Amino acid sequence: MSADNEIFNTSENAHFQEVLALGTVAGLSRRSLIRGGVGLVALGTVPFLSACGGGDDVVEAARSLSFTAVSKNLADNVTLPPGYTYSVVHATGDRLVSSLSAYSNKGLETDEWSMRVGDHHDGMEMVSFDANGKFSTGFTGRAVLVVNHESSADAHFFHPNGQTSGGVSGKKFNQFGGWDLGARPPLEALKEINHHGMSLVEINQSATGWTYKIDSLYNRRITGQTPMRIAGPAAHLSDIRTLMATKWDSTGATSRGTMNNCGTGQTPWGTVLSGEENWAAYFNMPKGANPVDAKIQASRQRYGVARTPIAPAATSAGTQGWFTASSSDDRFTRWDVAANGTTAADDFRNEPNTFGFNVEVDPLTAGTPVKRVAMGRFAHESAAFSIPVVGKPLAVYMGCDSQNEYIYKFVTGANWDNKDIGAGLAAGDKYLNEGKLYVAKFNADGTGQWLELSFTDPKVSGYSTYTFANQADVYVNVRHAADALGATKMDRPEWCGVNPHNGEVYFTLTNNSSRNPGNVDAANPRAYNDVDGRKRSGNPNGHIIRFNEKDALAQATSFNWDIFLFGAEETMSGTNVNLSGLNATNDFSSPDGLVFGPATGILWIQTDDGAYTDKSNCMMLACLPGKVGDGKKVSLDNSLTVGVSTTTSKQETFVGAVMGDGQLRRFLVGPAGCEITGLVEAADGKTIFVNIQHPGETTPALGLAADFTFESQWPGNQGYGVAGRPRSATLAIRRTDGGKIGA
Ligand code: FEO
Ligand code: CA
Ligand code: CA
Ligand code: CA
Repeated sequence: MSADNEIFNTSENAHFQEVLALGTVAGLSRRSLIRGGVGLVALGTVPFLSACGGGDDVVEAARSLSFTAVSKNLADNVTLPPGYTYSVVHATGDRLVSSLSAYSNKGLETDEWSMRVGDHHDGMEMVSFDANGKFSTGFTGRAVLVVNHESSADAHFFHPNGQTSGGVSGKKFNQFGGWDLGARPPLEALKEINHHGMSLVEINQSATGWTYKIDSLYNRRITGQTPMRIAGPAAHLSDIRTLMATKWDSTGATSRGTMNNCGTGQTPWGTVLSGEENWAAYFNMPKGANPVDAKIQASRQRYGVARTPIAPAATSAGTQGWFTASSSDDRFTRWDVAANGTTAADDFRNEPNTFGFNVEVDPLTAGTPVKRVAMGRFAHESAAFSIPVVGKPLAVYMGCDSQNEYIYKFVTGANWDNKDIGAGLAAGDKYLNEGKLYVAKFNADGTGQWLELSFTDPKVSGYSTYTFANQADVYVNVRHAADALGATKMDRPEWCGVNPHNGEVYFTLTNNSSRNPGNVDAANPRAYNDVDGRKRSGNPNGHIIRFNEKDALAQATSFNWDIFLFGAEETMSGTNVNLSGLNATNDFSSPDGLVFGPATGILWIQTDDGAYTDKSNCMMLACLPGKVGDGKKVSLDNSLTVGVSTTTSKQETFVGAVMGDGQLRRFLVGPAGCEITGLVEAADGKTIFVNIQHPGETTPALGLAADFTFESQWPGNQGYGVAGRPRSATLAIRRTDGGKIGA
């Protein structure tokens, strides 16, 4: 999404020279850096370990991917290897209850989105349950499929004639930044707010594959208006609530809705975490309205909230202008964040403080979703847990997706107990409220540190750009605190995953157009120009970084890292581009989704790309990774000549072993204009579920419905539902012979 590409980090920390200066642990060999990891455990299982590993590394028996690689292509369909097939489980607008009519796909519905599948399918988890309705870690053929619904960027498809403004004929939104004047029609705004959030839908396996069950008691929508509980450490909860107080709940104990839900994570106890990502874009500050105080303004500046006041009656495609739909109905006025009242409890100036969290949901109960404030407020992607070890803390890894933002880790205060499996939100209260929050600093020598985000650190409490009041303020304005500590600015952290075989942590860094030869560093080492097709500069193709914690401990405060994989076009030359030796069977750009499949033993990598889409729609690759330190140190030449002036830039980094196509292979290419995101494997390894988000994303939104020039018409063009407008959807992918995927 476009908001991912904005830069709100103007801090000076963690660029090239500083990292070099701090990263000189001379004489430490790569071999010594990689020692101390847990031994590899049996493939194909994710055991709850009863004791910590340790000792010598074990060489994984050579495995090879078995399917034929899919070619890059621009077809308006999902392309799979020979012998594989897909079906659509559900798509945008599908009904959860039989009392609603089937989806028109013409924008004719009223505000029924609390009982229809939302749009922009993103992160996804599968929570299996047994005949007694109890959470199961094994295969039961029955589950709640939890899907995030990220964005309203394609909201023109929800209305008969695209988005209108003030009912003025011919006044249409343009999703690419056009402006219109006038109030939004309330019904349109409601439909757009309520298709956000999450869908929880029962799915069942039958002889014909997996289908969703209309009218299941488990079917549930969580939307931009669903009440949420605000949770955090006992010592700081009162201060947290002060920051959350709004006219809707002056106590700040609850908030309304979850928005822009991007990546997910399944907790070891069976609930789901849903990351709120680009929520900042929807708030407005009308010109001439009462300004907020300087501290709130400094907070908003760092998060990209309402930075440019707009005319009172103005709406823009970026914000969707929901606040204009009414001057009194707080379902709409909540998006106006001016200081309209006497205190914060009289208006919605604090409404932005209630977004940007991991939201925990228990799909097997009707419990109120919980915002986990101690895990920090930022543009959350996925949340990946360390391998649970009985009697030890858990770590949760998290990325903040904007250019030059950070990688975070939350370490639980409580030690893991297998008895909490299936304990729902009560277990969440036990593990995710009390703990320590850290941000990552990557050193030039292949080591790294976790820096604790604590108000007791003078660098935080004495920070001059933003004056923190207390630890609650640190959680809510954690980007400022991470700046204060000098964390490393990354090339847009997206999903993360933990290798179930050895506990190593992988992060996709999708791309960064603001990276240049003057600000590269060892962990974000490339700056180059894509000279053909969609010309981009910076780090246009992205990379995947990985690290192992010192002594394989979740609570470690240091780690060793290398760069597992660099995205590139197969034909790109230069010492600083195709460092992973990609070829026609596995070249890719802009890695985003990343999931270690516990049943197949495959690392799945998904793309959300705009750089290589002249040659191929977005895709998914299968991978059998090695481990940190299996490659080598390399020196990159990022020197750039523009006209007569040359910037000389050399950068050393560590790249993982080049993989043959038996270890890295393209498995899927999606329909036109989509991104591939979200993946979950059935526990038998015979079905994988994958989301297709926003096919036809660049369909012009200017005209009447009849004038839509569709970039994509999937999945209607394959016989799913009413043909015409494209729809996001969940796929179930199987082998035609019923065998295990990828084996
Ligand atoms: Fe929602 Fe950063 O992808
Ligand atoms: Ca190109
Ligand atoms: Ca993403
Ligand atoms: Ca993305």
